[in-house]
Amino acid sequence: WLTFLDDIEAILALKRERNAVILAHNYQTPEIFHCVADIVGDSLALARKAMSADADVIVLAGVHFMAETAKLLNPQKTVLIPDRRAGCSLADSITAEDVRQLRQRYPGVPVVTYVNTSVEVKAESDICCTSGNAKAVVESLGVPRVIMLPDEYLAKNIAAQSDVEIIAWKGHCEVHERFTPADIRQLREDHPGVTVLAHPECPPEVVTEADFSGSTAAMCDYVERQKPPRVVLMTECSMSDNVALAHPDIEFIRPCNLCPHMKRITLANIRTALEQNHHAVTIEPGIAGRARLAVERMLAI
Ligand code: 13P
Ligand code: SF4
Repeated sequence: WLTFLDDIEAILALKRERNAVILAHNYQTPEIFHCVADIVGDSLALARKAMSADADVIVLAGVHFMAETAKLLNPQKTVLIPDRRAGCSLADSITAEDVRQLRQRYPGVPVVTYVNTSVEVKAESDICCTSGNAKAVVESLGVPRVIMLPDEYLAKNIAAQSDVEIIAWKGHCEVHERFTPADIRQLREDHPGVTVLAHPECPPEVVTEADFSGSTAAMCDYVERQKPPRVVLMTECSMSDNVALAHPDIEFIRPCNLCPHMKRITLANIRTALEQNHHAVTIEPGIAGRARLAVERMLAI
């Protein structure tokens, strides 16, 4: 922690100087999550809280699509992403042209788009969703069939809980697709009584074998409320690190997968972002208007 002190002190001073807030996703490392972030949470919480952020500058300690969402909701504010290369395999799995072609193939079927997408894809969509509200969004439309992009597993996991028919795309999260049901069986054998929580980006066979599935915030709440004596979070590694710090009495079993995109954000590049005002997110106004509508429809639910 001592090696982090210089950057932490500089970031805290820069935040005051620039009237800046740092929004950090649950997958950020503990020194970011616990020492410099003002607002932490899942994608839905970050989008909601970005909307009411009382600041001139927002630094998004997360991935690029999260910074774009914050900019959509705060067109007048400066939104910075400390490393532009912080992408997402889901966002990379689909283009705006793919969505236009799907609409031609399924005329009149509404398009529900996971926030893990580019603004161009959001602009072609009817409404956005996150893992925290996907079922509510799909069911809010009052139709028998929807297209849900781009995460095939999230779409199948929601379809399993709903009467709405879901047409899925073939995108996968490179972190969650690696978990298997065999991993869970081995964990239960090696750690008797362990409670298994899985993110809904995991394959459906994994979600079926888990004790609970929910967004990163829903997993945190589960631990907070149920206080399982032994738990494993089938998701990105930093989640357990962050939650475990708040629950020293709970045993966290930690097979996990790293998200290389989330890990591009560091204290050093957050400091540089605030010092040099980079990398500022810009969105073409014609695209921003349509994409914002899809995000705002989601937030209204
Ligand atoms: P949450 O919305 O559950 O935080 O998920 C975001 C994400 O990127 C998970 O991989
Ligand atoms: Fe994208 Fe998966 Fe990383 Fe989340 S964990 S940002 S879905 S690649």
